[in-house]
Amino acid sequence: MRSRRRRADIALLFVLWAASGAGAGAGGEGASATLRLMQEKVIPASNTVFGATAEVPADDAGWREVEQALETLVASVREMADAPGGFAPLPWKDDAAAFARAVLDARRAVAARNVDALESANGALYQSCETCHVVYLPASK
Ligand code: HEC
Repeated sequence: MRSRRRRADIALLFVLWAASGAGAGAGGEGASATLRLMQEKVIPASNTVFGATAEVPADDAGWREVEQALETLVASVREMADAPGGFAPLPWKDDAAAFARAVLDARRAVAARNVDALESANGALYQSCETCHVVYLPASK
């Protein structure tokens, strides 16, 4: 399915961009808590979740991996809610809330093994990454 494939491509682009040096120096001593959260949790977990519509899990074990990734994203939402200072609190909260809503929608979709619902939740999830980055990613460098 074309749109599913495209979403996977977008997720892949994200990974390539992150690996390309956009995050140069990342992971070093100066790395912010948010950067670590992105690199260790949000990026790998969201790739698993995005990938599940392009390559639908064949069995329950496969779906459980997606569920596990979503639990990681739920934990990330909590960490974002307590994000240390440095970001304007109000819009940050809105963006984190949009992210949280999309994660919960995705979790419901995965619980129901509903790939179409997951695809639409993933669209909102991806949008929430973008919305926050537009504001905070350039400024945070
Ligand atoms: C509420 C805000 C917010 C949301 C939502 C968010 N991010 Fe981020 N993200 C950030 C901030 C802030 C940084 C920059 C952190 C820094 O450099 O200190 C960042 C950095 C990144 C980076 C660059 C990492 C690097 O090595 O430089 C990637 C890739 C990324 N996020 C992916 C994602 C993905 C994928 C999602 C959604 C599934 C997402 N983010 C959701 C705020 C957010």
